[in-house]
Amino acid sequence: MLENIQQMQAAALSALTTSDTSEKLEQWRVAHLGRSSPIMLVFTGLGKLSKEERPQIGQRANEVKQVLESAFAEKAELMRQASLKKALESENLDLTLPGRALPRGRHHPSTQTLREVCRIFSEMGFQIYRSRDIETDEYNFQLLNFPPNHPARDMQDTFYIQAEKDSARQEDNPIVLRTHTSGGQIHAMREFAASDPDNPPPVRVVLPGMCYRYEQITYRSEIQFHQVEGLAVGTDITFSDLKGTLSDFARRMFGQNVRSRFRASYFPFTEPSAEMDIECFICGGKGCTICKHAGWLEILGCGMVHPVVLRNGGYDPEKYTGFAFGMGTERVTLLRYQIDDIRYFWGNDLRFLEQF
Ligand code: PHE
Repeated sequence: MLENIQQMQAAALSALTTSDTSEKLEQWRVAHLGRSSPIMLVFTGLGKLSKEERPQIGQRANEVKQVLESAFAEKAELMRQASLKKALESENLDLTLPGRALPRGRHHPSTQTLREVCRIFSEMGFQIYRSRDIETDEYNFQLLNFPPNHPARDMQDTFYIQAEKDSARQEDNPIVLRTHTSGGQIHAMREFAASDPDNPPPVRVVLPGMCYRYEQITYRSEIQFHQVEGLAVGTDITFSDLKGTLSDFARRMFGQNVRSRFRASYFPFTEPSAEMDIECFICGGKGCTICKHAGWLEILGCGMVHPVVLRNGGYDPEKYTGFAFGMGTERVTLLRYQIDDIRYFWGNDLRFLEQF
């Protein structure tokens, strides 16, 4: 009997070596481990054996059953791997290749600066106001105290949008791409004033956006750039408020120790007007190529809102005063990172963009 069992094992194992398809393997399992397989019949016949034989045969049969089961499992696993390997080979898939890192997007350096400027002013209590890129001559110039044909318009060369050529409206109020964000001052004031025309509420807004000028593109000038405009209108606003707010902004933006100064300037829509410089953070004011040996960097234009502009916005200049400022954020970004050519900004070159 014991010998028989030994033979069952040998026969089963040798049959296993030729069971090399999944169907054959299943047939093998039924034949050698199934209910009516020889080894299972040994278990069913145990009852007929003598008391002495029973444990010996039982134990041996159990051992054989375990050997066959693990041989089966091993063979099944080998076959599974072999078929997987075959499938992978036919797909030309190399599982050992390292994974590819997904490219990670980020904000454009201009957007980063724009957002930081807006964040600083929001912290000071200004709200973001979105104005339009496509403006009329009226909002971009006339309401800002640029009379028609005034030479001051030459400060900003304009892109005109040609609509119906002969329309009268086009002639005295052509559609333009805004040359600065200042037109948004009028939109903002009129919207605030509309809520209570007899007693217009105070205004604290910053207006970020793209501006366009018809200029030769060079390393220092582009036809499109961003500005952030700021406007504060109220009953007791003075030039000191303007200086305090903008100096505080400079410290928050460029560091607590940065010094700033104001120089008299001219804009048709502010009176008095000024430009703000900050101490060159590259050389600390000693003079270098970035600040062109001046020790100071110009970063924005500003002034007290002109009475004509206040009136155009719906605010009585007898009762209200205000200050406004506008800064080019590409310029701020150029200075911050010492970039020497403004054309990188819209060049879409990843080697540039990935550095930010
Ligand atoms: N709009 C001006 C410019 O583009 C900047 C400015 C804004 C100046 C507001 C004064 C007040 O140069």
